[in-house]
Amino acid sequence: MKHTILHFFLLLAAVIPLSAGVAAAQQPLGKCATDCHTDIQAVLPKNHMTVEGEDNISSCMQCHLPSSETLKDTRVFSAKVHKKHFGEKKLQCSYCHIIQKGVSFALPGRESIGVPDEQTLGFLPEITAEWAQSPFLSAVHSAKDVACSPCHGVDKLPLLDDKPANNACFACHVSYEQLAAKTPGKDHPTRNPHNSHLGPINCTVCHKAHEVSVNYCLDCHKFDMNPIPAGKQ
Ligand code: HEC
Ligand code: HEC
Ligand code: HEC
Ligand code: HEC
Ligand code: HEC
Ligand code: HEC
Repeated sequence: MKHTILHFFLLLAAVIPLSAGVAAAQQPLGKCATDCHTDIQAVLPKNHMTVEGEDNISSCMQCHLPSSETLKDTRVFSAKVHKKHFGEKKLQCSYCHIIQKGVSFALPGRESIGVPDEQTLGFLPEITAEWAQSPFLSAVHSAKDVACSPCHGVDKLPLLDDKPANNACFACHVSYEQLAAKTPGKDHPTRNPHNSHLGPINCTVCHKAHEVSVNYCLDCHKFDMNPIPAGKQ
């Protein structure tokens, strides 16, 4: 009897991790050389070190460690890799990231950077393609190799309803005072979007990153102001 119970538990122990493993498995990572880059070395920057190892993104991750803890770092490597793969050609995030819906979003050998639900996973390729190439403010940033992290938080997967706080913008754009010094109204210096009776409000009241930006001052005022970047033309 004892023996059968032991047997039962041994069996259970063998079966549970297996079934959990099956439920968790995602499709294998994309094979960069097999699928597209027969000569991977040819698409890397000039004089780049020789890349060896598995035929997927993990061969890059051997050397490209997370580069920074600060929002000021643009994350050039991340920006370059994402721009190339969400321009004309659009890959799935799971081509390079190990994704478990509702559980994790990671790179091989790295910790998870977020917990995406199904809706978010459906939306991310669209917004990443828009960041890579669009008339909106996020694309002004991708052109300068600013990845998602500088605005959304270091190594944090942006989720639906994410709204960066002013501090993220100040990592590069410093302060309201410095901005105001650059943006007095043309003939009327007091018509300054960055120094007004509204005080230091959220940047995102006016600057939208993934859609058309709007100058909130003009909700109430009819006067002329310099046009807002990436706004309605
Ligand atoms: C043997 C180590 C090594 C491997 C493996 C490696 N890289 Fe690099 N890579 C470097 C170094 C060193 C630089 C110089 C830039 C730096 O300071 O990070 C660099 C720079 C780059 C840059 C320029 C952007 C930047 O951060 O300055 C790109 C793009 C890049 N690598 C892509 C890749 C890709 C794609 C892979 C995988 C196919 C890969 N690398 C694998 C070492 C490596
Ligand atoms: C071609 C491979 C590739 C694909 C496809 C890819 N990524 Fe990445 N991703 C990377 C690499 C490489 C890094 C790590 C860069 C680093 O550590 O600097 C990264 C890092 C990230 C980061 C953290 C750094 C940052 O940019 O803020 C986020 C967020 C991210 N990816 C989101 C996505 C999303 C969302 C998708 C799908 C829409 C996606 N990635 C598709 C290769 C890829
Ligand atoms: C990692 C640094 C970095 C962060 C963080 C950052 N930006 Fe920028 N931003 C830039 C760079 C680089 C440019 C391009 C400047 C240039 O071309 O001279 C830019 C340009 C801009 C412009 C001018 C666009 C144009 O077409 O003239 C606006 C507006 C702007 N950023 C707003 C923001 C807002 C709002 C945030 C926060 C949500 C933010 N930025 C976060 C680096 C950053
Ligand atoms: C009330 C609307 C509004 C708010 C809030 C606002 N901006 Fe602006 N921003 C504008 C307008 C309008 C311009 C264009 C002004 C000009 O060219 O004279 C502008 C221009 C800019 C520029 C380009 C400056 C240059 O060198 O020409 C940057 C960068 C910028 N804003 C960043 C920010 C950041 C960061 C915040 C939050 C701390 C912020 N803005 C808050 C309306 C706003
Ligand atoms: C210049 C700063 C900036 C960069 C770079 C940026 N974002 Fe955003 N993101 C924002 C702001 C600001 C919002 C708030 C909504 C808006 O203003 O468009 C936002 C909102 C979002 C949202 C929530 C959208 C919604 O409708 O709920 C997602 C998801 C997102 N960003 C993903 C990304 C991804 C993925 C990247 C990188 C490929 C990225 N963002 C790069 C500033 C940025
Ligand atoms: C919610 C409505 C509202 C918003 C938004 C708003 N204002 Fe005002 N503003 C007023 C009111 C009300 C007055 C006082 C009555 C008047 O003189 O028009 C005023 C007065 C002013 C004045 C002095 C009078 C004048 O017309 O020269 C300036 C300058 C001004 N605002 C600039 C701004 C700027 C710049 C912004 C955006 C950063 C802004 N306002 C956003 C309502 C608003």
